[in-house]
Amino acid sequence: EKGGYDHFMLKEIFEQPKTILDCLRGRLNAENGTIQVSGIENYLDEISKANRIIIIACGTSWHAGLVAEYIIEETCRIPVEVEYASEFRYRNPIIHPGDMIIAISQSGETADTIVAIEKAKEQGAIIMGIVNVVGSSIARISQTGAYTHAGPEIGVASTKAFTGQLAALMLVAFKIAHHKQTITEERYRELCAELALVPGKVEKILEQNDSIKAIAETLKDSSDALFLGRGYNFPIALEGALKLKEISYIHAEGYPAAEMKHGPIALVDEHLPVIFIATKDIYHEKIVSNMQEIKARKGRVIAVINEGDEITPAIADGVITIPEADEIIAPILNVVPLQLLSYHIGIARGCNVDMPRNLAKSVTVE
Ligand code: F6R
Repeated sequence: EKGGYDHFMLKEIFEQPKTILDCLRGRLNAENGTIQVSGIENYLDEISKANRIIIIACGTSWHAGLVAEYIIEETCRIPVEVEYASEFRYRNPIIHPGDMIIAISQSGETADTIVAIEKAKEQGAIIMGIVNVVGSSIARISQTGAYTHAGPEIGVASTKAFTGQLAALMLVAFKIAHHKQTITEERYRELCAELALVPGKVEKILEQNDSIKAIAETLKDSSDALFLGRGYNFPIALEGALKLKEISYIHAEGYPAAEMKHGPIALVDEHLPVIFIATKDIYHEKIVSNMQEIKARKGRVIAVINEGDEITPAIADGVITIPEADEIIAPILNVVPLQLLSYHIGIARGCNVDMPRNLAKSVTVE
C-alpha cells in the first residue's frame, strides 16, 4: 500500500504533483483564466464584504494559515489574523458581525479547532472550512469551504495535506480578489496561469531527491538547525523547522530572516546549519546579505533558490533549486524540498518517519 516507496511519508511527498492537481481540477481553468470553487460560490458576496478574516488552526495547518494571511491581505485587501485554535478558544475572543473565520484542518477532527469555530459560529461568524477529510466534524460545522482533495494522509507528519491547503487557499483568495476587484483582470489571469503550473514544477523539484539526500547526509549529525525566510516564505521557514523536529528530533527553529540579528544569530557557529528559503522576491538581496553574515560566523548555509541564481551558490554550502514562480505561488513549491530534507535526515538518523514518537495523527483531545 506504500506504492513501492519505503515509507508513507515519501510516498505522500511524491504524490504531490497529483494531489495538487486534484485540488485544482474542476476548479481552475487556466485557459480561460477562471476559478470556480463550488463550496464558496454562494458566499462570495458575504466573504467579499468581510471586515476581517480570522484563520484558526493548529500545527502545520496553522502555517498554511500564515501563508494565507500574506496572500489574502495582498490580493483581497482584507485584514487577516491567524490564531492558534488552542489560544483563541480560551480567550473570550472578540468577533464582530461581518467577521469571517477560516478553519484549516487536515483531519477535520482537531479538538481545539472544533471548539474554537463552534464558539465563533455561536457569535455569528461565518465559518469557512479548508479541510481534507470529507464529512469530518470541521467540514460539517462550516457553512462554506473547499476540500483540499489530497487523499488519505497516513504519515503522521503532514506533507501533501499542507500543499493541498495552500492550493485551496490560493484558489479561494484569487477568487475573492477577482470578485472584489482588488486585483486587475490581468493579474487574476496571471495568477491562475501560475497556479496551473505548480504540479509540473513540483515534479521538477522531486527530481532533485538524490541531491537533497546528499545534503541531508551533511546535516544528519547536527543538534540544532535554523530555518530563515521572509514574506511569503517566513511561514515556510516555520514549517521546515517543524518538519525537521518531528521527523529527525533535531531541534530546529524558524524565524523571519531579518529577526536573526535580534537574537538567534548568537547561536551561529561552525556546527549550526542555517537553511535559507531564498527564492526570487523583493527580499532576495537582503536575504543574500543574511547568508553572508552567517558565513562570516562560520555557520553552514543551505539555500533554497531559483534556477538561474548565480550569486547564492558561491556563498552556500548546499543549494536546492526551484523553478521560477510568482512570489505568491512560491511557498507551495519551496516547502517540498524541506519535506524531503527532513525525510532523508530522519532516515539517516534511524527514525521512524511515518510514526514519530509521542505524536498522534489527529489530536482529538486538547
Ligand atoms: C505536523 C502535523 C500537525 C498537524 C496539527 C493539525 O506535521 O501534522 O502539526 O498539522 O495537529 O492537524 P489538523 O490539520 O488535522 O487539524
